[in-house]
Amino acid sequence: MKSLNTRVAIIGAGPSGLLLGQLLATRGIDNIVLEKETGDYVLGRIRAGILEHGFVDLLREAGCGHRLDAEGEIHDGFDIYVNGETHYIHLRELTGGTTVVCYGQVEITHDLMDAREAAGLVSYYEALDVQPHDVLSDHPRVSFRHQGEEYEIACDFVAGCDGYHGVARQSIPESERTEHHTAYPFGWLGLLSDTPPVSKELIYCKHERGFALASRRSAERSRYYVQVPLTDRVEDWSDEAFWDEFRTRLPPEAAERLITGPSIEKSIAPMRSFICEPLQYGNLFLVGDAGHIVPATGAKGLNLAASDVAALFQVLARVYEAGDRYCVPRYSEIALRRVWHGVRFSRWLTGMLHRFDTETTGDLPSEIYSRFKQSELEYFLASEAGRRVIAEQYVGLPYETL
Ligand code: APR
Ligand code: PHB
Repeated sequence: MKSLNTRVAIIGAGPSGLLLGQLLATRGIDNIVLEKETGDYVLGRIRAGILEHGFVDLLREAGCGHRLDAEGEIHDGFDIYVNGETHYIHLRELTGGTTVVCYGQVEITHDLMDAREAAGLVSYYEALDVQPHDVLSDHPRVSFRHQGEEYEIACDFVAGCDGYHGVARQSIPESERTEHHTAYPFGWLGLLSDTPPVSKELIYCKHERGFALASRRSAERSRYYVQVPLTDRVEDWSDEAFWDEFRTRLPPEAAERLITGPSIEKSIAPMRSFICEPLQYGNLFLVGDAGHIVPATGAKGLNLAASDVAALFQVLARVYEAGDRYCVPRYSEIALRRVWHGVRFSRWLTGMLHRFDTETTGDLPSEIYSRFKQSELEYFLASEAGRRVIAEQYVGLPYETL
């Protein structure tokens, strides 16, 4: 068996793990990343694309903001299309100057991987059977196999950045955690294509046939979604069927401009939420999708992963720079406050913008639930105060400091 030593063992090379690793490295805090897939596989997963300003600042702090600053698109706002009318949520005006940046998660992951390699930081891709041990002690260990060899890392902390299906959360005894789950009877069918996007900024559409979203990755690459029942299978959706449905749900002037083309990727993502409490067990922390999932409507998944990383980075920097270990148990509480806000906001937007065919909440039949949600949307869109409530949460609530 090969023995390794580090300060922080990071499980998972998604955006959470890689960003945490880079930030720690800026303060000279040694870390090793363990990823079960290959780098190419990780980069092949098509994910989110709207970044809160807090995330952008964090990427810059990690020294990984150059390409984002050059190629990322600043979005001043987005449209909500409902009842045949378009309402602009002017993020910049409504929040006193804050905007979001459109830059794909794949690009972020790419930049973080390149930076990690350039800095010569240690990573093991295709690390198998990763398992944390003794995380309640001051001497945790992480074992794994790599290219047929057994390894063990001795460390101070373990960061579980290994997504919803990872090993970190599963290694916390069930009696020590609570999982809160909600699920919708629908998902988003997403299509990526190398076609010029229909709009410079995002359009969230509420149509009687269901929700649709026109998003983008760049001036040449579109990312579009339509709400579909969970019973639909992606194989049953031809590109033509997708384009027809998407076009129907767009505002007419956008539908006229729509340029279609072959899909590069097409998949259905279920709309659900999940929160694990607490987000830590001794010296093991859960970060990003390992600890929570949000419905995609508010674009909060990746952004909540970033705020977890910010909270954990502060805690670990304080441990190593000020010798203060008392702040360690505070990670979960700080990260969770923002996570609950994010999940609540995503659920709120999801409720107002989607079509509900089945009974969804408590004793409310779907017809009444849908009417309440429709009137709530109209109410918030009708006033500047209402639009500001949407805008403030969309650009992201402030990060908490220790
Ligand atoms: N051992 C090692 N690595 C693992 C293991 C394991 N047992 N299980 C999972 N992983 C890896 C996955 O292969 C993946 O690359 O952990 C990584 C987790 O990455 P993500 O799922 O991308 O999660 P995270 O980094 O928290 O990113 C936040 O925001 O946009 C949302 O869901 C979207 O991926 C996104 C997330
Ligand atoms: C995306 O581009 O994938 C995206 C954008 C905004 C959302 C959700 C997803 O609210």
